[in-house]
Amino acid sequence: MQTETIWNDIYAKGPQTSSGKPGLALTQFAGPLRAGTALELGCARGDDAVWLAGRGWQITAVDVSSVALDIAARNAEAAGVAHLIWLAVHDLALSFPDGQFDLVTASFLHSPQDWPRGEVLAKGAAAVAPGGHLLIIEHASRAPWSWSPENTRFPTAEQTLASMQLDSKDWAHRCLCPIARSASGPGGQSATVTDNILFLQRLS
Ligand SMILES: C[S@@+](CC[C@H](N)C(=O)[O-])C[C@H]1O[C@@H](n2cnc3c(N)ncnc32)[C@H](O)[C@@H]1O
Repeated sequence: MQTETIWNDIYAKGPQTSSGKPGLALTQFAGPLRAGTALELGCARGDDAVWLAGRGWQITAVDVSSVALDIAARNAEAAGVAHLIWLAVHDLALSFPDGQFDLVTASFLHSPQDWPRGEVLAKGAAAVAPGGHLLIIEHASRAPWSWSPENTRFPTAEQTLASMQLDSKDWAHRCLCPIARSASGPGGQSATVTDNILFLQRLS
């Protein structure tokens, strides 16, 4: 099945409204930054983009799912920040938005099918303007309700960084670490999960 179809089915069956809550790690790492231009990869229903826009960021937010982007558009309208968010459909394995940005974020940009994730994240890094930041938040453990197989092996933050093949002289590592958080599942379940944080600043 095509990536777009997989994710459109997921969003068509899920809630048609947004949670209205940004990711915790996004708020912790992007919160202190001065607002500028941002690119969000895999924006889903737009909760992170709406939160960034509420803090003055101008965001290009992309996802492979047009169903998710329709929800994100309504979410942005309802929050009064639609004028700060440009939504676009991209299968990031096939096409990538143009431009350079003060912040590039990718939160839980995972997908069940095989795809060149390291290459896509490297394109995200290439889209960071000098002095800007790259924030990648990814699963480092499996939540009990996850669609990923039980034997899934998650990379460390260092392994994800290595997969991007960045030139180390161009980047300062502000945070490269796992963090634990309490997570809630779709049925109201809760569990402690681990995420990797890759928070880098582009030097040149
Ligand atoms: C696990 S969800 C995470 C969504 C959101 N960023 C969050 O933090 O909750 C992964 C998102 O990435 C998107 N995605 C998966 N593969 C993609 C691809 N090849 N190109 C663009 N978006 C993709 C999915 O549609 C989905 O919205």
